[in-house]
Amino acid sequence: MVRAKISGTGSAVPDKILTNFDLERMVDTSDEWIVSRTGIKQRHIASEGEYTSTFATKAAEKALAMAGTDPSELDLIIVATVTPDFPFPATACLIQDNLKASKAAAFDVSAACSGFIYGLSIVEKFIRAGTIQKALVVGAEVLTRIVDWTDRNTCCLFGDGAGAVVIEAAEGDNGILSTHIHSDGTYWELLNQPGVGNRHPACRKTLDDKLMYINMQGNEVFKLAVRAMDDVAHEALSTNSMTTADIDLFIPHQANRRIIDAIGKRMGLADDQLFVNLERYGNTSSASIPLALDEANHRGRISAGDILLLDAFGGGLTWGAALVRW
Ligand code: ACO
Repeated sequence: MVRAKISGTGSAVPDKILTNFDLERMVDTSDEWIVSRTGIKQRHIASEGEYTSTFATKAAEKALAMAGTDPSELDLIIVATVTPDFPFPATACLIQDNLKASKAAAFDVSAACSGFIYGLSIVEKFIRAGTIQKALVVGAEVLTRIVDWTDRNTCCLFGDGAGAVVIEAAEGDNGILSTHIHSDGTYWELLNQPGVGNRHPACRKTLDDKLMYINMQGNEVFKLAVRAMDDVAHEALSTNSMTTADIDLFIPHQANRRIIDAIGKRMGLADDQLFVNLERYGNTSSASIPLALDEANHRGRISAGDILLLDAFGGGLTWGAALVRW
């Protein structure tokens, strides 16, 4: 059986770090509040001249090097992002240009924090159908450019960075076992960036009304995230006749430590089954799962044959999971 196998991982974050103590000097907040409510201690912040494509390209180059894949071999490049360099062309096309991956088709996916899982799902289907052999999926964001740095409710939550995987067609039992994606647009108002699309175009009023910034009803998002991520995790497990005991490593979207702990508790996961790195990066939206996956891979937390469950939730609302045998 042909499976979509992850053959390389990579990640890249900006050098510049903003700690909770730095934030204490910018808004009415405290390290104690941020750590106890979110688990976040610091986040990486893009500097002038650094863009989503900057980190996406670096992460992609590392993933390709690990896989031993030349960019010219890629059939498809997907970039999951809600903070593209431009509305168009797709950031994926910029990555294609940077890598000189001339054979690949390239496009972006907009599914907020679930975007990376959506990208994996698309690639898995293309590979299983026999349409492509090799693909690159990148989750990349520069969220700190759409954060209102005067709003303490949101400015402590987000960070910048990118993670990437190379995926190739391989015979055997190892690879992506299944992917599961869902959306519920009735909740679109809970989490969004109201401007600067064509409903609120770039104009003085949009800027004055601060519509270009992330807008979130945190409490509502919190409750829905826990339920949806738990549901889709069980959907992935039951599809493959597995239980939570079969999971070697659960890599959830890194939004809030309390969300992750609540899901871990609901699923009955032990601490060593959970991978968490949000204390150093904050919520990097679509970059968070591939960034965590790459870190787990480099730290030796993943061995051949391990069962990994990747689980995400984000604006849309969207959510999804991927079960992988490494
Ligand atoms: N510092 C100090 N006080 C703050 C801060 C801050 N940075 N932010 C909010 N507060 C205050 C609020 O003003 C409020 O004060 P009030 O009671 O006087 O009005 C109080 O703290 C409690 O606010 P809540 O919003 O109820 O705090 P809560 O415990 O829910 O935590 C948080 C807020 C962290 C946003 C939480 O709701 C959360 O994490 N929700 C999920 C959001 C999320 O993860 N979204 C992303 C997931 S999807 C995606 O990644 C796109």
